[in-house]
Amino acid sequence: MNSPISRIGGKKLLRKTICEAFPKSETYDRYIEVFGGAGWVLFYKDRHAELEVYNDADGELVNLMRCIKYHAGELQREISCYLNSREMFLDISEQLKCRGFTDIQRAARYFVKMRLSFGADGRTFGCNKKPLKTSTDHLAEVQKRLLMGVVIEHKDFEDLIKVYDRPTALFYCDPPYHTTEDYYDVDFKQSDHIRLKDCLKSIKGRFLLSYNDDDFIRDLYRDFKITEVTRSNNLTSGKYKELLICNY
Ligand SMILES: C[S@@+](CC[C@H](N)C(=O)[O-])C[C@H]1O[C@@H](n2cnc3c(N)ncnc32)[C@H](O)[C@@H]1O
Repeated sequence: MNSPISRIGGKKLLRKTICEAFPKSETYDRYIEVFGGAGWVLFYKDRHAELEVYNDADGELVNLMRCIKYHAGELQREISCYLNSREMFLDISEQLKCRGFTDIQRAARYFVKMRLSFGADGRTFGCNKKPLKTSTDHLAEVQKRLLMGVVIEHKDFEDLIKVYDRPTALFYCDPPYHTTEDYYDVDFKQSDHIRLKDCLKSIKGRFLLSYNDDDFIRDLYRDFKITEVTRSNNLTSGKYKELLICNY
């Protein structure tokens, strides 16, 4: 199934390749999506493992996933009050900086902001002609998928990995790409790339990591298996090289 939202860095075009690169499914019983984002890889399969975890450090995204899981109908009704307009996009962007909304009101605003922005960057109005109404048709199906036992976490990656690490765990890590960290609302520094490598190098479980093809990343993970993959770039219609890195 598709993710309920598009989001910059989303793995819509690479999700099949990523899932094919996972170890055989009978060899792991917990699947942890450490940098969940829009969850394209999670939603690609009906089920990855007995225990599934979606995590992100961005509280707006996590609140949206929780509201879809527990209040999909109410969220859909709230979203139906919005229009596809530049004014509404700008107002919502300002409102999301304020307190005082309910979780469902926040989730609806965040959903609309993502939906109306250019390339799902959440920052510029996208002049998208698709009506907002149809974008929520899918929420009930996503709710069912999340209710199948997907645990939703809101943690920094290091803490999350420590909590869920077992020999039978598979971590899918899709961090902010090197040199494009500021596309996201959560701060991710050069030292965080190093912290992630230090954390992954000693886990008991297995990991698959996706990154942009970058010299710093190739050097950082030189002791691991690195596979080069190519995907089309939906914004520029060109080809884009990415790396899949794993410890198995
Ligand atoms: C490349 S995106 C993930 C895209 C996702 N795989 C998808 O298909 O939509 C990276 C995500 O990492 C999250 N993030 C940034 N810093 C983080 C941290 N320290 N711990 C966990 N998540 C973090 C961002 O909020 C962002 O959603």
